[in-house]
Amino acid sequence: MYVCSCFGVTDSQVRAHQEAGACTPRQIASVSKAGTDCGSCVRRIQGLLGRGGCPRRQTESTAEQTAPASAPASMPAAEPASVPSAPSVAEAA
Ligand code: FES
Repeated sequence: MYVCSCFGVTDSQVRAHQEAGACTPRQIASVSKAGTDCGSCVRRIQGLLGRGGCPRRQTESTAEQTAPASAPASMPAAEPASVPSAPSVAEAA
C-alpha cells in the first residue's frame, strides 16, 4: 500500500528503512523523499514508525542525562556588560 503518493513510497519500503535504522519521519524523508512534497503522508509515516522504537534516540537521551554531570560544578555568573549610555539631548546639542 502506498504511504506517500507523491513519491510512490510504500509501507513496506518505510518498514525496510526503519529496519535499516531510520526511526523518524525526517530520516525516512532523507532516504526516500517521502513527506517532502505535500507532507500529507508524514502522519501516516509516523504511525508506521510508532513510538519508542528508536534505540538511537534512547542513547541520545541517556547522553543528555549524563552531560550536566560532566559540566563544571559552578560557572561564574556572567557580569552584565556595561552599556555606555546614549548621550542625552543636552549633551548632543
Ligand atoms: S504524499 Fe508524501 S509528500 Fe505528498
